[in-house]
Amino acid sequence: MKIFYSIDEFIHNQLQIEYFIPTMGNLHNGHLSLINEAKNSSSGTCVSIYVNESQFTNQEDFKNYPKTLNADIQKLNNLNVDYLLIPEKNDIHQHSQSFDVSKEPKNITSELCGKYRKGHFLAVMDIVHRLFQIVKPRNAIFGDKDYQQFVVIQELIKIYNYKINVIRSSTVRNDEGLALSSRNNHLSADEIKCASQIYKSLKYAKNLYNQGEKIEEISKQIYKYFDGFPIKIEYFSIRDLKTLQPRYDDDLIALIAVYLGKVRLIDNIIIKSTP
Ligand code: PAJ
Repeated sequence: MKIFYSIDEFIHNQLQIEYFIPTMGNLHNGHLSLINEAKNSSSGTCVSIYVNESQFTNQEDFKNYPKTLNADIQKLNNLNVDYLLIPEKNDIHQHSQSFDVSKEPKNITSELCGKYRKGHFLAVMDIVHRLFQIVKPRNAIFGDKDYQQFVVIQELIKIYNYKINVIRSSTVRNDEGLALSSRNNHLSADEIKCASQIYKSLKYAKNLYNQGEKIEEISKQIYKYFDGFPIKIEYFSIRDLKTLQPRYDDDLIALIAVYLGKVRLIDNIIIKSTP
């Protein structure tokens, strides 16, 4: 694996990047599954590691973000990743244009997670737009786990007319169903057990829908579901799968964000998807 710390050097090599997987490091099996998706079909895979400060809504979160670069490099080496880009902020800014804020798709970015994390998706659009300009991949892979982020990236592609194919990759979970996340590192063993209720609640919501329950009633039931657990719902919402708008005449997804103590966790489940 060739590691680039300098964007000039990266560009100078005129690489043909087939698959690009942007990350913030602290790689777990969820990240690695995105890479496996690429490695199954091609060479020319590029992973980036960059902890984007501006997308953190809480300074503490940014400061505490786990940095495990040596272990990350080892994992990527084991997977035979071709290129790893580890850029610096100034270097990124010198080699790319910012996202035009007047183009922010607020109907998506200010909803769900965006309602509680002001500016988060704008910052994600900005960094991914910058990385796309530098890496110029044919395909980019994003995880289902951050489904709203995936929809936001699709909007980014439309806004700038990028000829990049965006690929969604399934959420990787532990044996109990908890979605893998860097934030799980902040949970105790008991809390990890308890956090498996998040996905269980989503499966319960899907069952209710399949039994013909109304959307509003499902929401009520899910808010009740966590009574007796040390889990506080920030939001639970069923939305249109493609647009994330509150429209219920097409394919559907249920999304949830909760707090377990101070740790914020998100997850989602596709309720209905027609091929
Ligand atoms: P990060 O949280 O490091 O995630 C990088 C990619 O891994 C994202 O596409 C995310 O959806 C995916 N991912 C995380 N956990 C996963 C899991 N359990 N199963 C499957 N995929 C998972 O998302 C970001 O970084 C940043 O916002 C970024 C796009 C890099 C922009 O800064």
